[in-house]
This record gives sequence, C-alpha cells and structure tokens, in this order.
Amino acid sequence: MNTPPSTMFAVVQTQDGYSGTATGPVLEDAAEWLSEAELPVPAPGPGQVLIRLRAASVNPSDIHFIKGEYGQPRVKGAAAGFEGCGDVVATGAGAEVLNGQRVAFVAAGAGAWAEYVVTQAMMCIPLRPEISDEDGSAQIVNPMTAIAMVDIARNAGEAFIVSAATSQLGKLMCSLGCDLGLKPIAIVRRADAVDSLKDLGAHEVLVTSNPDMPKKLTDLCHALKPRVFLDAVADQISEQVFCAMPNGARWVCYGKLSPDLPKLTQMGQMIFMGKQIEGFWLTKWMTTTPPTDQMRVVAEVQARFADGRWKTDVADRLSLRNVVSELAHALKKSDGKVIITP
Ligand SMILES: NC(=O)c1ccc[n+]([C@@H]2O[C@H](COP(=O)([O-])OP(=O)(O)OC[C@H]3O[C@@H](n4cnc5c(N)ncnc54)[C@H](OP(=O)(O)O)[C@@H]3O)[C@@H](O)[C@H]2O)c1
Repeated sequence: MNTPPSTMFAVVQTQDGYSGTATGPVLEDAAEWLSEAELPVPAPGPGQVLIRLRAASVNPSDIHFIKGEYGQPRVKGAAAGFEGCGDVVATGAGAEVLNGQRVAFVAAGAGAWAEYVVTQAMMCIPLRPEISDEDGSAQIVNPMTAIAMVDIARNAGEAFIVSAATSQLGKLMCSLGCDLGLKPIAIVRRADAVDSLKDLGAHEVLVTSNPDMPKKLTDLCHALKPRVFLDAVADQISEQVFCAMPNGARWVCYGKLSPDLPKLTQMGQMIFMGKQIEGFWLTKWMTTTPPTDQMRVVAEVQARFADGRWKTDVADRLSLRNVVSELAHALKKSDGKVIITP
C-alpha cells in the first residue's frame, strides 16, 4: 500500500460555530460558505482510521452544517462533508482490522470533502464487493435512517405517511414499506413524480399543490388510519397533515427542508386526541440502539443495495476541485444525489 502524501486537497468551511439562521439546505453560491485549501493529511489516533476518499455524497445535513444551521458547530478551516466511501490506508491502535478495506463511513465531525479523511473505526462499515462506490458513498445516513424510521411506523399499524417522498430517503422508505407489506402514503410537491413513486411502492401519492389534496388526505386518513407521519419538510402543510391524522398519531420530524416554521393550530390534537410531536436524529439512534439491532440494520442495508432492491439515484457528479464553483448549480437538479469524487 502506498504511503499517504503529507498534504491533501480539501473543501473547507469558511466560518465557525452556528449562524443563528434557518434558511434551509439551499445554496445560491457555495463560495459563501466553502473554500479550497491544501491541508496536512491527518493522522489516525487510537480507534481511528485514515481513509483515501473514493466518493462522498452530498446530503441536506451537509448544507445545513456549512451554513451553521445544523446540530453541531462549524470549525473554520476544517474540511466539510459527513459521508462517503473509500479505502482505509492507515489505522490507529485498536483499528488494525480495517486496514486495506473499502468502507462506507461517516465522519462525525465532518471532513469527507477531502482527498483523505480520519474517522472513528466504529463509524465505518466494510463494503461488500457488489456495492458500487456511489452506492457505498450514501450507505449509512439515509439507508439506516430509512430502516430505523420504517421500524417506528410498522409498530404503529399498516399505513404511514412520508413527506418529501421524492428525496432519496423518501424513496427508500416507500420501497421498504411496500416490501414489508405496509401502505406508505407519499406526499410530494411535483406532480410528475406520482407514477415513479407508485412504481417504487407508494400506496398513494398526494401532491401538495393539488386543490383536492386536503380532501384526499382526510379520506385516506379515515380509510387507512396512518398513525405515523415521517416528515422532512416541517411546514404548515405538515401541521395540516398531522391534524388530519387519527387519534394517537405521531408527527416524527426528522428534517427541515422548508425554511417556513409551522404554527400549531389545534392544541386539542395533543390534549384530547393523544397525539405527539417528536424528533428523530440518526446520531441519537446510533448512541441509544443496542449494537445487535444496529448490526441487523447494517446487514439489511447492504443486502438491499447488493441485490438491487435499493440504489442511489445520482443527479450530478463533481470532482473535489469543482465543488466550490459548481455545487450550488448541481444541487438545483432534482431527483438524486450529488456525488463528489477526488
Ligand atoms: N434526522 C436524521 O437523522 C436524518 C437522516 C437522514 C436524512 N435526514 C433528512 O431527510 C431529508 C431528506 O434527505 P435526503 O438526503 O433523502 O434528501 P435529497 O435526496 O437531497 O432530496 C431532498 C428533496 O426534498 C424535496 N424538497 C426540498 N425542499 C422541499 C420543500 N421545501 N418542500 C417539499 N419538498 C422539498 C426536493 O424534491 P423535489 O424537488 O422532487 O420536490 C429535494 O430533491 C432531509 O431533510 C435530511 O436532512 C435526516
């Protein structure tokens, strides 16, 4: 194995801490938040590995993060990017078992948008050979969240509701729900996505801009009694969906794609109908879920990608050196991930 060089190209954060804004995971110009740098290649400490990047996927959390709107503070001058896949080229004490392996990884403190990244060995998953680098680069954050959240839904009945269903995560949840014999009710804002989501496994697809959407939703809630709403949008339409759901319904907010804040309009929903509003964050799930359950989820994720039941839709590909100039434009393309390669 080649010895890593002493320096590497990286796309770094230009600001520290939190911004105090809530403008959502959209960019007009990535140069407002990111710049290019030549950094020292980091050395892995105990329990850590050094990975040579093959591919990184761009998630909404990456954009929230660089804008200072995520659940952890930015570090000016440090590489951005949470998720990717690559080859382990050096290990710290206790992580030797991963040496030479191709792994999917999450860099908990960010750093994936660089030629090399250090992360904890426990945040790496050795990849089966059938899994491509692009699927490997989006193997943890969305797929594990999909399984964890559909687990919440399947314990509460047959039907469940998914917003932003054209997102990668929404599509994974619709197909998984269908495979499990459940009835995912998908909510989208693009009418042209209805057929493809039904093909993927959505039982019904509601388009938010259709005037008959509230009536259709009410009818579906009476007929199918969905008690879990897996919501990544969290706007006023989400609140209306929650209010239309039956007794005991749970509004599980796991994303904030819309910059608009919802207003609660009916407190009796909680008092008399026993409904709840809660959050889901994979980071918390990973620290509170027993290792055996996490291993079951990891194995299921890899099996689904390996046999083709799941795939990563790709909207655009950028090299690391084009991220600052082209990321904002690439993110405007619908229906797939932006994948970054070294
Ligand atoms: N809490 C957690 O642990 C966790 C873990 C993973 C992901 N997430 C969250 O899950 C969500 C989806 O992630 P992803 O990677 O699957 O996203 P993605 O593939 O990048 O897709 C996001 C899609 O959402 C739709 N969208 C964007 N803004 C919207 C809005 N204001 N209203 C309605 N739809 C909107 C767009 O689709 P159209 O253009 O087709 O409408 C967009 O392509 C994000 O909010 C992410 O932060 C949370």
